[in-house]
Amino acid sequence: MQILTKIDDICRELRKVRLSGKIIGLVPTMGYLHEGHLSLVDVANDNADVVVMSIFVNPTQFAPNEDLARYPRDFARDEKLARERGVDYIFYPESDEMYPAPYFTYVVTEQMAKVLCGVSRPIHFRGVTTIVAKLFNIVQPDVAVFGQKDAQQAIIIRQMVRDLNFPIRIIVAPIVREPDGLALSSRNVYLSSEERAQAPIIYKALSEAKAAVEQDLAEAGQIAGQIRQTILTTPLARIDYVEIVDDRTLQPVKVVEPGTFVAVAVYYGKTRLIDNVYLKER
Ligand code: PAJ
Repeated sequence: MQILTKIDDICRELRKVRLSGKIIGLVPTMGYLHEGHLSLVDVANDNADVVVMSIFVNPTQFAPNEDLARYPRDFARDEKLARERGVDYIFYPESDEMYPAPYFTYVVTEQMAKVLCGVSRPIHFRGVTTIVAKLFNIVQPDVAVFGQKDAQQAIIIRQMVRDLNFPIRIIVAPIVREPDGLALSSRNVYLSSEERAQAPIIYKALSEAKAAVEQDLAEAGQIAGQIRQTILTTPLARIDYVEIVDDRTLQPVKVVEPGTFVAVAVYYGKTRLIDNVYLKER
């Protein structure tokens, strides 16, 4: 495994790989790797000959009041985990390498960036699409793998790839969960033990909603109401949103149909957790 920090160096290495006819897979991350990230490496290895992982805590997707400075980092550990899992190249740039001053250009997926998480994080997806577009241009992968954990992010990236004609196949891999159902997230380390004990209610509420839909409940308002009620049985929960939306447009639906999923964001203390479940597959 090679670790490269400069854009010129990774471009030069990957040019050789491409010329040898090998398929390149990209797994973008912000590091502090857990099994969710590593499952994406497995999917990338199944779909490509050479796997590139980027590790970059992208400042443009954090608002000034968010957790950029305290976002967890441990490169030594990440390096070891990535190597053991079969990553071939880690791209680990500094901020100045990705955003040399002056920096002016952003990629925006307009209304898709304004709904769900975009309501409480208005600049977040602009930062995500910008950095992912830059990584796509630098790495020029054949395939790129994202997690269903961040459903809105994956949908927005699919849309960006379509809109801007990136010749890249996007694969979305399933959510990896703790045994009690809590979706793995680098931010779970922020939870106090009390908050951690209550947080699994999120997945429980979503699973109950899915079961109710299988029993023919279809009215979105009713389903969302039940999810809210269940989550609020844990006293430390503060709901940001519970939304039932279409997986292509991210627009709310009134009745569950193929492609409908429920997405939630819930605060436990200062930590904002997100999760989602398909109510009906497409
Ligand atoms: P990060 O939060 O580090 O996540 C990197 C990738 O891992 C994303 O595609 C995310 O959806 C996936 N992932 C995280 N937790 C997961 C889980 N429990 N199961 C499955 N996949 C999971 O998402 C980002 O970084 C950034 O926004 C990024 C795309 C790298 C742009 O900066």
